[in-house]
Amino acid sequence: MSPAKKSVKTPAVKTPAVPKAPKRVKPPKSPYYEVRRSKIQGRGAFALLPIRKGKKIDEYWGQPITHEEADRRYDDNEGRHHTFLFVLDDDTVLDARYGGNDARFINHSCDPNCETEIEDGHIWIKAIKAITPETELAYDYRFEWQDEYEPEDVRYYACRCGTAKCRGTILRIPVYLRPTIKQWLAGNDVPLPKKPKKGVKPGAKKASLKKAASKKAPAKQPR
Ligand SMILES: C[S@@+](CC[C@H](N)C(=O)[O-])C[C@H]1O[C@@H](n2cnc3c(N)ncnc32)[C@H](O)[C@@H]1O
Ligand SMILES: [Zn+2]
Repeated sequence: MSPAKKSVKTPAVKTPAVPKAPKRVKPPKSPYYEVRRSKIQGRGAFALLPIRKGKKIDEYWGQPITHEEADRRYDDNEGRHHTFLFVLDDDTVLDARYGGNDARFINHSCDPNCETEIEDGHIWIKAIKAITPETELAYDYRFEWQDEYEPEDVRYYACRCGTAKCRGTILRIPVYLRPTIKQWLAGNDVPLPKKPKKGVKPGAKKASLKKAASKKAPAKQPR
């Protein structure tokens, strides 16, 4: 007879807390548009319903990362510019390649029917005009101009929005540079003019220069 096994009570061992993986939240789908092929580039977002001016159409979803991480993930020196990044603020960029919703397919236009609005850390796509069904939704990406840009950089960010107001590039061009950038886009690589002093319009006469200097706030730069 084998001796009865002594029941040994194992002391309750506390297992180390395993951090829970963040729940993958599926972004809600906006009823206002769907993604289709676009004449502008690749895929785009097209209205399914009439959308009134001022309507919040969708929120831009994506993984929040730092600017450094965005630079590490994406090399701007690849053949053609393509990004799903959206700058939220000085610290954060949303990368819609991860956890992004259909808003990542909204293309750029120089004469847009939408704009983006940042509210409490959320990026909203809002209609700035009444939009009819079948119309492609687009907002102005307004990529920041960098003084070190050269003609090939401007051509790298070429715009194909096809509107009458197309500036030829997705970049936001400071007013004083617009004639030069037009030349660059036409293949004429003229040198960049010097940056005018703040509040002074290029070509302003002496008298109006005095006036400009006496103003407290410099004139707002148009987009
Ligand atoms: C957020 S994605 C938009 C969706 C994109 N069409 C696609 O199919 O993935 C942004 C990229 O689309 C392209 N794009 C968007 N608007 C454009 C435009 N007006 N002209 C040229 N390319 C554009 C650029 O490659 C840009 O980096
Ligand atoms: Zn354009």
